[in-house]
Order: sequence, then structure tokens, then C-alpha cells
Amino acid sequence: MTILSDVLRLNLTGTPDEIVKSMIDDEEAVHIDCDLTSARLLVEQTKREIALYQAKVLYALTRQFDYKGARILEIGTATGYSAAVIAQAVPSAYIVTLNPKRSEFVVAVDNLHSLSNVHVKCIKSEDYLVQWQHIGHQLDMVFVDGNHDTVARDLWWFNQLKQGGLLLFHDYSPADSGRPTPPVYNVCNEMRDSLGREFDVSVIDNRRVGMVGFYRQPDEMFTGIHGRGEGYTIVGGEWQNVG
Ligand SMILES: C[S@@+](CC[C@H](N)C(=O)[O-])C[C@H]1O[C@@H](n2cnc3c(N)ncnc32)[C@H](O)[C@@H]1O
Repeated sequence: MTILSDVLRLNLTGTPDEIVKSMIDDEEAVHIDCDLTSARLLVEQTKREIALYQAKVLYALTRQFDYKGARILEIGTATGYSAAVIAQAVPSAYIVTLNPKRSEFVVAVDNLHSLSNVHVKCIKSEDYLVQWQHIGHQLDMVFVDGNHDTVARDLWWFNQLKQGGLLLFHDYSPADSGRPTPPVYNVCNEMRDSLGREFDVSVIDNRRVGMVGFYRQPDEMFTGIHGRGEGYTIVGGEWQNVG
């Protein structure tokens, strides 16, 4: 398999401070802090949002894709904090963020209205994927932070990425971690096994709370996971559980 050379691979563990220090130098940190403050001013803090150090990781990974014509999808807007972070990192990109929960969607639309490159849609990721397959545009990055119980369906977004595009998961955190999210943890591991290679991005803090991701390699396809009833695929525009 050809190895992509110009992508940011992160394999970090430690406390949040150690993770940030090993990834970002002091000069960059000032710049990122400033952009994250701008994001914070738009969106009030909520319990559901990503942690501050994870926002810095997300920012650092996303800004690789800051060019005109780049397309980024976020699955799971809540009220818009991580979408605002992404928008600060990639002002040139076109960003779509999804939230099927109408009460949060309207707040997110209001919070993010000043960011002209961010488009909030009130739709489930799995329904949007069925539509997107017909549109045919390839994506630079997908950030997955939506419904934990249906995350197996979000794995299929991998095939909508460009070569070198990044599928990044929040909540890669086992049952005994500081923020247990076993459905996401298990499904990410199954995707790793199904692709037959390690994560390209793995940022795991000292409470075993993590984010992981894969860059799509040339001609690489995700063909599904099987076992424990979590294998899904789309047949004729409908989701089917293939076990
Ligand atoms: C943990 S919150 C996201 C937090 C957000 N990324 C942030 O850091 O600010 C999860 C979000 O996913 C949304 N969600 C639930 N099911 C979804 C689905 N099927 N597709 C997309 N989003 C979904 C929820 O309504 C909620 O807003």
C-alpha cells in the first residue's frame, strides 16, 4: 500500500497539557488560543462539547485542509462549539455540520450564523450519507461526534473521502475510562481490524479518553464490519443490518 507522506500523523498519550505541549509550539499556541477564544465567544460552553485540549487537537488536524474547495463534514453539532473550532481552523473550506435534534439545531444556526462557510443541517448522518452518495463530491475530512449507538453506520463515510482525507472519531473511550463510550470504542477497533492497519491518529489522555482517525490511502475502501450485530450497509438507498 502507498503510504501518504504529507499528512499529520499523531500518536499521543499523556495528560491534556502534555498532549498539547507535544503537538503545538509556544508561538502556535498563542495563535490557536486566540482562534479558540473566537469560537468560544460564539458558542456557550455545554457539557456535551469536546474538551479544550481536544479542540486544540481538532484544530491542528483540521487546518491541514484550509484551502479553497476543501469540504469538511461534522457529524454531531450540538450547539456548535466544535463546528466553530473547525471554522476557525479552515476559513477557506466549506463546512457542513449535522444535528437531527431540532431544539439544538436552531440554537446552532443562531450561534454560527456569522460564519458564512458553515452550513448546519437538521438531518441524521445516516440519512445524509444516502443523499451524499448521489452528490458524488469527495470530502477532505469527516469528524464523527454524533449518535454513539449508530456509529457503525458512520464508518461508511470513509469511502466518501479523498485520498489523504481524514475520518476522525471523538469518544474513543473504553468502559473503564473517564468518559465511557464503549459503542464508539468497539466500532473503531473493528474498523481498524477490518482495514487491517493501525490508526493514523490516536490521541489518548491519562483518563483513557481518546480520539482516533484514519487517513484514506490511495484506492482504499471500507467494506464493512461484521459480528456482534453491528455490521451495516446501504442497499438500494436503505440501511440493512448485515450482522
Ligand atoms: C456530543 S454531541 C456533539 C458535540 C459537538 N461536536 C461539540 O463538541 O460541540 C452529539 C450530537 O450529535 C447529535 N446527533 C445525534 N444523532 C445524530 C445523528 N444520527 N446524526 C448526526 N448527529 C446526531 C446530537 O443531537 C448531539 O447534538
